[in-house]
Amino acid sequence: MASASLSTAPRIARAARSPIQCLRKPLRHAAPTSTHLHQRRAISAYGYEQAKALTFQEYGDPPSVLSLHSHSISPPHGDLMTLRFLASPINPADINQIQGVYPSKPTFTTSLGTANPIAVAGNEGVAEIIALGSKPKEQGFKKGDWVIMNGPGFGTWRTHASARTQDVVKLDDAMREGISPVQAGTVSINPCTAYRMLRDFVHLKDGEFFIQNGANSGVGRAAIQLGKQWGLRSINIIRGRDDKAAEDKLKRDLYDIGADVVITDAELQSQGIKDMAAEWTDKGRSPIKLALNCVNGKAATAMAKLLASESHFVTYGAMSKQPLTIPASMLIFKDIHFHGFWVSRWAQRNPEDKKSTVAEVLDLVRAGKFKDTPVERIAWEWETGGEELVAKVRDTLEGYREGKGVFVFGKT
Ligand SMILES: NC(=O)c1ccc[n+]([C@@H]2O[C@H](COP(=O)([O-])OP(=O)(O)OC[C@H]3O[C@@H](n4cnc5c(N)ncnc54)[C@H](OP(=O)(O)O)[C@@H]3O)[C@@H](O)[C@H]2O)c1
Repeated sequence: MASASLSTAPRIARAARSPIQCLRKPLRHAAPTSTHLHQRRAISAYGYEQAKALTFQEYGDPPSVLSLHSHSISPPHGDLMTLRFLASPINPADINQIQGVYPSKPTFTTSLGTANPIAVAGNEGVAEIIALGSKPKEQGFKKGDWVIMNGPGFGTWRTHASARTQDVVKLDDAMREGISPVQAGTVSINPCTAYRMLRDFVHLKDGEFFIQNGANSGVGRAAIQLGKQWGLRSINIIRGRDDKAAEDKLKRDLYDIGADVVITDAELQSQGIKDMAAEWTDKGRSPIKLALNCVNGKAATAMAKLLASESHFVTYGAMSKQPLTIPASMLIFKDIHFHGFWVSRWAQRNPEDKKSTVAEVLDLVRAGKFKDTPVERIAWEWETGGEELVAKVRDTLEGYREGKGVFVFGKT
């Protein structure tokens, strides 16, 4: 403790002498080797918050372009508030955004004190309000409230941020009750995507089937569980594992959360799949009417072939980086309806439905009816170095992971 006090003292003294100076000259870019990364964070003086963010100056391979940047945030006034992040996941879309291949672009800005514009990575997360100006107070926000992001592009891989009320959605005290930061920080994208895809394309009746690939993903696991709650049956396709024991364990995990059938992509593309499907669906008397696809390639075409006539096939991701190839007969003779879904656009068009969907999922979580997707908690303390954080982002690119990487913020 003594060393912590010693290391913060000179910085408090500097801020106390000249807060204006601090505003004009925020702490500049800190390379991972910079010494102040290893110091304890200074307690804010005159309401100035010191912050760190994983940022990029240009699009590219995340490990090459990401770096940890330190800056300070001036006290909030007017419609501003200062947020301290609690948990932020690493989603595939975040990686695509850094690579420059995601349709929603981040804001490149010099407002974090750099000569060249930089963007903060990350799109999803939960933060607490630690200070606020007069307008957010008038709108019912208060210190200690938890907020999630209102849309993509805010930049959530950071310890602190300055935000406006329109950037965030408040989780009411009742919504937050019994919910952990990781649960709140991962609720707004994947479970909402699964929820809307199961509800908004076709009305599935009790006992009817849907089929999905990427079943072990956050979206896939959410679809299994929501479907179960609503009386639907699911056929789930996973990537096979070289390690048979690991594959069996993964299948068991998905059965445990409510899957009715779990097969590998190789099993899906095997000779016997038609007979298996006939068995599951009582020779087609319980038809498969909806398919959810985040993979594409041959396995997605094979999945579409199991659909009943006039069914719906919803594509929401492209994990294999392969195109989606559809035989014309599926359109002409089977009249399968092909759709795309993007939760960001849906949320922008349906902001109230977004709030109620989040609230409903959190109710299920609270009631123990919706199990968390396995996560790898990545501790982000004030002292955590940029190289360590960037290495964790790099790990997410490897695939076949035990759980989704989530930054969990400690003493920042
Ligand atoms: N359109 C939307 O609004 C929307 C919203 C949310 C998510 N998404 C998309 O949904 C997908 C899943 O996202 P998430 O956050 O739920 O994922 P996640 O939890 O991070 O898991 C990634 C999943 O992708 C699978 N995967 C990775 N590489 C693959 C490959 N080459 N071929 C087949 N599968 C592969 C992994 O399979 P293993 O389990 O075998 O490792 C894992 O199940 C992504 O494509 C994401 O962009 C779209």
